[in-house]
Amino acid sequence: MKKAVCPGSFCPVTNGHVDIFRRAAELFDEVIVLVMTNPDKHYDFSTEERCNMIMGAVADDPRIRVDVWNGLLAEYVQKNGINAIIKGLRSATDFDYEFQMALANKSLAPKAETVFMTARPENMYISSSLVRQIASFGGDVSDFVPKEAVETIERVLKNKTDI
Ligand code: PNS
Repeated sequence: MKKAVCPGSFCPVTNGHVDIFRRAAELFDEVIVLVMTNPDKHYDFSTEERCNMIMGAVADDPRIRVDVWNGLLAEYVQKNGINAIIKGLRSATDFDYEFQMALANKSLAPKAETVFMTARPENMYISSSLVRQIASFGGDVSDFVPKEAVETIERVLKNKTDI
């Protein structure tokens, strides 16, 4: 069984992320969306909120499931027999950052391949930070995130402008 992981903070999940999950599910038997925490970052959404938003968005697809991991990605892929680490790329800036991580992960977990998937053009400008900024000023984020995530994003970020 070919398994892939889509790791990230997903704070919050966007339409761009969901598009990558669904396209990855066409290539692999099982796709695990792995909600991780980068200790260098502050998160506006709890791990539970981040997971619930993703689960709501992919509930119709049995090939995709959500998991949480707070350790090294390489350790997770080795423990779970995962063949591929999927990363979405929107720009050369994304690539610079992701290339470094891919090399480190290759060294730590040699059996897993990092697979880069390009964002659809219509999702290239969407990011979690853009969504957080719009929502914190009371803007409408429904064009950028799955409909199942809108209520949580608006409730958590309303009037929160210190992002
Ligand atoms: O959505 P993000 O914040 O860009 O996701 C980055 C993330 C969480 C995928 C990355 O920081 C990561 O893999 N963290 C886990 C710890 C780890 O394995 N670090 C070494 C990667 S080379």
